[in-house]
Amino acid sequence: MQKKIYRLLYQIGLALIFTFSNAQGSNADDSRIWASQCFQCHGTNGYPVGDMDEIGGKDPNSLYEELIEMKYRGKTEGIMDLHARGYSDEQLRAIAEYISAQSESKQQEEERNQEEEREEEEEEENHG
Ligand code: HEC
Repeated sequence: MQKKIYRLLYQIGLALIFTFSNAQGSNADDSRIWASQCFQCHGTNGYPVGDMDEIGGKDPNSLYEELIEMKYRGKTEGIMDLHARGYSDEQLRAIAEYISAQSESKQQEEERNQEEEREEEEEEENHG
């Protein structure tokens, strides 16, 4: 009987340690979830088709600095300031690291090239 109680206490202890250590920092899954929001505008993994700013694969420190600047510049100049304020500094660091590590897929690259060709053709039609 006593053994059972000790085992139960031991398991509760483990569960608490696990929960607490998860809440402390961020893991890869958290980063992916936080960054997935960004990809709705900046394209899958940060590689957009069209005019949006490409953020995938950028240097993690400059990404982080940009996000911090957006978060703390006081006045709201654009949509990004609001986004940046939705995260803690630690989360922004994790997001910057995650996005920086992403690369463009072959399919995305092809789509981007096609889009650029289409744009060039349109321009030629408009000017010629
Ligand atoms: C609703 C659309 C939208 C979402 C979601 C969004 N962004 Fe942006 N982002 C923009 C727009 C638009 C700009 C262009 C600058 C501006 O208007 O503020 C921008 C600009 C940026 C820039 C500056 C790019 C450069 O080349 O200077 C960075 C970095 C950036 N976003 C990162 C992020 C990150 C990280 C997230 C997720 C936390 C995110 N964005 C989510 C729309 C979005």
